[in-house]
Amino acid sequence: MGLNENVNNDSPAEPTANTQQSDVDCLRADLIAADYSVDAIDRLWGTDAAAALHRGYRAPAERALVGNASPLATLARLFVLGRAVSAAEAAEAFPLLGLAGGIRLALLAVDGDTVESTTVRPLLDLRPYEFTDSRGPGAWWIASDLGELALGHAIPEDHVLGVGGASLTLSGLMIGTPVDSVLDLGTGCGIQALHASRHAKRVVATDISKRALELTALNAALNGVTNIEVRLGSLYEPVAGELFDHIVSNPPFVITPRTPGVPSYEYRDGGLVGDALVEAVIAGAADHLVPGGIAQMLGNWEYHATSDAFSRVAGWLDRAGLDAWIVEREVQDPALYAETWIRDGGTRPATAEFDALYEAWLDDFAERGVTSVGFGYLTLRRPADESAPRLRSFERISVALGAGLGDHLAASLAAWDWLAARTDLEIADARLAVASDVTEERHYWPGDEHPAVITLRQGGGFAREVHAGTALAAVVGACDGELPLGIIAGAVAQLLEVDGAELLAEVEPTIRELVFAGLLVPQD
Ligand SMILES: C[S@@+](CC[C@H](N)C(=O)[O-])C[C@H]1O[C@@H](n2cnc3c(N)ncnc32)[C@H](O)[C@@H]1O
Repeated sequence: MGLNENVNNDSPAEPTANTQQSDVDCLRADLIAADYSVDAIDRLWGTDAAAALHRGYRAPAERALVGNASPLATLARLFVLGRAVSAAEAAEAFPLLGLAGGIRLALLAVDGDTVESTTVRPLLDLRPYEFTDSRGPGAWWIASDLGELALGHAIPEDHVLGVGGASLTLSGLMIGTPVDSVLDLGTGCGIQALHASRHAKRVVATDISKRALELTALNAALNGVTNIEVRLGSLYEPVAGELFDHIVSNPPFVITPRTPGVPSYEYRDGGLVGDALVEAVIAGAADHLVPGGIAQMLGNWEYHATSDAFSRVAGWLDRAGLDAWIVEREVQDPALYAETWIRDGGTRPATAEFDALYEAWLDDFAERGVTSVGFGYLTLRRPADESAPRLRSFERISVALGAGLGDHLAASLAAWDWLAARTDLEIADARLAVASDVTEERHYWPGDEHPAVITLRQGGGFAREVHAGTALAAVVGACDGELPLGIIAGAVAQLLEVDGAELLAEVEPTIRELVFAGLLVPQD
């Protein structure tokens, strides 16, 4: 390692492709040798310190590292805590990459003129990331820009985000059916593109930020992923005229006042008024999906005093001609929304700057008569058959999502197609089975023979709870995949001493919902 280089340099010389690749190979080897992994870091400072870090405080983690100069501790200090280390510690942590390599990769900067006084500081956040998707477990390292904690001040407007809560939400929803092509619109550090690279032959990752694309390319190279192509440009400009099997996007959907002085963070603000950016991503998806292709995205939508958000979104979808399943996870009032996003940019409450931004946000919402803002997930599909009925499902589900929801979404889309292709008579002829993750709860008033409440509970998927009457519970309970639904309904009607056709007509709409939601599975 070139400690005698006396470098004091934040802007490295332009590396050639070969040096860049060999530097990345050395970095990977150094990270592996140090066991720079999620588990090892958790063990290094423990769960309490990890939780404090998550809340934005690094003191407990720093205390846990006192006296520990191992390569693992050095890497964690540099890239998770954002602290400088001594040159000797850095030398031990990067035996192959060396300081010169770290500088060429724009990963490290060196301050000081002599070997003794030299310190090494991080220019990037670089941390291990673990996940499980439909292909099984995986682990990567993800580089992104240094956050507020490491910088010690608010992040700049061109900040490239690391893996955050919204990133995890979208990657957890990603449908992993093997496909030829995926577009990741607004790739940031490339996390969605990396996930898509596991099931797509090729991924195109776009962004308006050149720096984001450089980080995506670095992350792909560092993790040995070779099927991601990066392209610079806004929205669908870089893919004009191209069609994709899947589109994924965690777009910059945050509603931001277009008032002078309000910072416009690239990572969250698409530069349009209100929720127009989400509308634009939806509209463009229709022109860039193959028939049957699927777009998955996150978004915010405004509720106006005069219109419900879902009916506004339905208007966008009708114009785009897409199937749509929208799940709203959260609704915030304008004040809470403004506070959340002003704080997210690092502006502290009880400052004049915070108050001015707060006013700007509230003025902006008031101008359009915004009463609240919804957040959720959209699964859109270009119909393979233009004449088929359109899927339109708008739901409010506030439960936190588990990992691996992509398989569930794919199964629900297939279930929708199955339902759309069948009349009620054909459904009555179908054999259905209760999904293996469904349980039934019965609650009785003390002393009563009959339950007051029967609940069907889904273990996976969206963890739905469905309240069932006696007839529906009996029909669902008998769905073992052997007998057609109509026969089961007839037998239940006999037991309850009611008309069979009436009972079937009463339960069939809910049976359809249970099939779509994955509580009942067609066996035909
Ligand atoms: C919320 S970040 C998402 C990053 C990453 N995909 C993830 O899931 O964590 C949104 C990204 O969109 C990019 N972006 C902003 N405006 C854009 C535009 N008009 N067209 C394409 N990308 C844009 C930002 O630079 C940022 O990287």
